[in-house]
Order: sequence, then structure tokens, then C-alpha cells
Amino acid sequence: MHGEREVLGYHALPMSRASRTDRRSFFTFVKKGITDFHQTASIVPSGRFLVNAMVDAAEPERARTIVELGPGTGPMTGPLLARMKKDAKLFTIEIDEPLHNELVRSHDDPRLTAILGSAEHIEELLAERGHTGKVDVVFSSLGMSLIPSTIRQRILESAARVLAPGGTYVQFGYFHTRYVTWTKDEGLKGFDYRGTLEKHFGRVTRQPVPANFPPAWVYRAHPRTRA
Ligand SMILES: C[S@@+](CC[C@H](N)C(=O)[O-])C[C@H]1O[C@@H](n2cnc3c(N)ncnc32)[C@H](O)[C@@H]1O
Repeated sequence: MHGEREVLGYHALPMSRASRTDRRSFFTFVKKGITDFHQTASIVPSGRFLVNAMVDAAEPERARTIVELGPGTGPMTGPLLARMKKDAKLFTIEIDEPLHNELVRSHDDPRLTAILGSAEHIEELLAERGHTGKVDVVFSSLGMSLIPSTIRQRILESAARVLAPGGTYVQFGYFHTRYVTWTKDEGLKGFDYRGTLEKHFGRVTRQPVPANFPPAWVYRAHPRTRA
């Protein structure tokens, strides 16, 4: 059924019309999602509605530099590039080697620098690739609610430092994680995306995306302007 495929992130195409690249990327992610759910935070890539809401929130046509955290095999990377300026730059930071390799294989664009590494070290990873300035957008689909609190803290601090004044942090979080999620250090509890982002950035707005599996919020946060 088309609708199901759309929500499950496999585009709205019947199997016979989906490209081989789409299929390969999809199953690479599913395999990883089943064997290492704690890292991927999902067993399927984000669906089209969530991708569109995230990309809209980033306003990529206005950005010179975007950093995408946790791109997986890249369901949001292509749509971001499609709306970025010709001379803009996109850095992706993915911790998982097979997912990173699949992203590189399926995205051939001179504006893209795909980095294998952890989002805890955004500035260092960018500096190693010759980018020492700030960035306009940090675009994250990391499963923050499943990431141990010390690592989460380091990622958000790194993101806040690298964002330009007037920049935007974009993040999605699944509805259910407000009530139940699990981390190694904090055990079973709810995770407050909005409160966490407010602590690190300041002003936060959010938009619901119910037509995703699982349903999600898209958050936009802006760094505090220092006096
Ligand atoms: C919820 S998936 C999102 C994948 C894809 N962007 C999507 O929307 O379908 C989270 C991704 O973050 C990656 N990830 C988890 N921890 C990370 C970290 N510390 N640094 C970079 N990537 C990480 C996972 O391997 C996974 O690809």
C-alpha cells in the first residue's frame, strides 16, 4: 500500500518502481536498526512527511553551511542538498561505518563532505576538513532520548558552540519518548526534548508530524544572543 510505504520511509513508490539505490539504502538501515537499535533509535529511515518537515525547518536555501548529525544512509541528505545554494556546503557526521559508506555511495555531490565520526566532536571534525568558522544550521536526527546523558550533553554543547548567532538547530524527536525511553545511565524514563533544547539554546518552537512511523515532533531552536 502506498500510504504505508510513505510513512515507513520507503517513499510512495511500489517496490517495482523504487530505485535500486533507494532499496539498498532502506535495507542497509533496517538491518542496522534491527541489530543495533540503541544506536539507530529506529528500525526504518524517516518517512517523507518527516523529511519534508525537517528540511523546511532548516530553510536550506538561506544557509551557507549546514552540519547534519546522524544522517544514516541519507534520506534527508538528498532533500537538503536539493534546496541548498550551488556554493553552499553540507557536512554530515555519522558514527556508523556501513551507514556512512552507503550515504557516500549514494550521494555524489561536490558540496557534500561526509564524515565518519561522533557528533560529540563537531568542531574538531570540521576543522580537520578545513572548516574553522561557524555554521548556519545544525540539523540533527540523532535519537537523543536513547543517547547516554554525558554524550548527549557533549553533542549539544558542541552544536551550540558551532552555531552562528542567528543560526538554527533542527531536531526531531518521537512523541512516545516524552513518556518512555531508556538510556544506560538513566534507565527507563521520559525524555523532555523541548526542555533539554531550551537549556542549551534558548527559544524553541515545535511542529507535530503525526504521519511518520513513529509519529514525531520537529523542533527548531535558536542560540541565545550573548550581551
Ligand atoms: C534516528 S537515526 C536517523 C537516520 C536518518 N537521518 C533518518 O532520518 O532516517 C539516527 C542516526 O544517528 C546515528 N548516530 C547515533 N549516535 C551518533 C553519534 N554520536 N554521532 C553521529 N551519529 C550518530 C545512528 O547511527 C543513526 O544513523
